[in-house]
Amino acid sequence: MSLLVDRRTKDTFALGKPISSSKQHQTAVAIVGYDEPLTVLTEYPKPRITHPHELIIKNKSIGINPVDWKCHQFRFGIYHFPWINGRESSGIVEDAGEEVREFEKGSKVFIVSTMYRDNRTSTFQEYVAMDSRLVWKLPESIGFSQGAGIGVGLVTATVILLDSFRLSLAENSQHGKTLLIWGGATVVGLYLTQLAKYLGFKVIGIASLQNQAYLQELGAHTVIDRNLPVGQIIDKVSKATTHVDFGVDCASRESTEKLVQILSEVNGKSLKAKYASIVSSHEPASDLVEKREVRIKRFHEDIEFGHQIVRETSKLFENGKIKAVRTKVFRGGIWSVIDALNLLKSKGAQAERYIVELDN
Ligand SMILES: NC(=O)c1ccc[n+]([C@@H]2O[C@H](COP(=O)([O-])OP(=O)(O)OC[C@H]3O[C@@H](n4cnc5c(N)ncnc54)[C@H](OP(=O)(O)O)[C@@H]3O)[C@@H](O)[C@H]2O)c1
Repeated sequence: MSLLVDRRTKDTFALGKPISSSKQHQTAVAIVGYDEPLTVLTEYPKPRITHPHELIIKNKSIGINPVDWKCHQFRFGIYHFPWINGRESSGIVEDAGEEVREFEKGSKVFIVSTMYRDNRTSTFQEYVAMDSRLVWKLPESIGFSQGAGIGVGLVTATVILLDSFRLSLAENSQHGKTLLIWGGATVVGLYLTQLAKYLGFKVIGIASLQNQAYLQELGAHTVIDRNLPVGQIIDKVSKATTHVDFGVDCASRESTEKLVQILSEVNGKSLKAKYASIVSSHEPASDLVEKREVRIKRFHEDIEFGHQIVRETSKLFENGKIKAVRTKVFRGGIWSVIDALNLLKSKGAQAERYIVELDN
């Protein structure tokens, strides 16, 4: 069996088919070098509790995100080898720090990790550490598979509304206002659509028309074909609304430029729309719109803010105001993370989150 050495910690890791995990070790999917394929490590250290609010969670299902392959291919956000990716999962509480009140061993939960530098919180491993104040109880109506794919989309959408646009999650508080989402069928767009509908927005989604019925079911008022020339999209937006108050792009740098053009032409000088892009920071500046940053890391850097997101969105799930989005499930255990990521990279998702079910 070959061994890998983490140059930072000097720990060694065995490579090979998964074996049963011991008290100290577990199986993880790791990046072992920029030009190396993803590798399954069978004796990777299990995370331990390091502060009183922390939980150790045994993962049952893992959500697969575009950033999980992008950071490997484009060499960002990797600080040492082996490096563990994975930003969301669902599972069962295995251990709890002494200040934890809301969870006990056996609680069913789902999580998102915005702590990109802390491998203990990354989810491509059997066990994960997380601050309990940033953990959701898995609602009764949601299984482990669906729950695993909620975190990133829900938190990104909520951060855009609460932090970027400085709104609150109050029902119908935005009645009469319009939100335009380029990339309405991305998972972020699907949660944004649901939350915006709850806030009372008229939601216009720009997506492939194959997703029109699904987007309308989740709360979109109008869905416009993203493949149309931008002039025709502007005409359709103008027919659907007199003005657009907020815009979000979830797709690409090119679509952020188109979003700015749409907001500028539909509103003219009568209203300066606020917009945010989760994919670009380089589009040309315009006097007709106001750009807002998306600070996803505020979720964990400001624990009170993160806890507020968990509390308020938990209620929305309980009351049926939002629901988990569609999933495409891979059932081959942790090894399937590699297949799922390769497929996500080559084919992309279609208004769904890829999920890997662990066989533990
Ligand atoms: N900055 C941040 O904090 C942050 C946070 C989360 C995600 N992200 C990034 O945001 C993007 C979306 O993430 P995600 O997980 O929500 O994506 P996703 O669900 O994997 O996106 C898949 C969807 O993208 C849509 N799409 C692809 N190209 C498009 C285009 N040109 N215009 C409109 N829609 C397009 C497709 O929609 P159709 O089926 O309609 O074609 C498809 O359904 C990714 O690039 C991700 O890395 C950034």
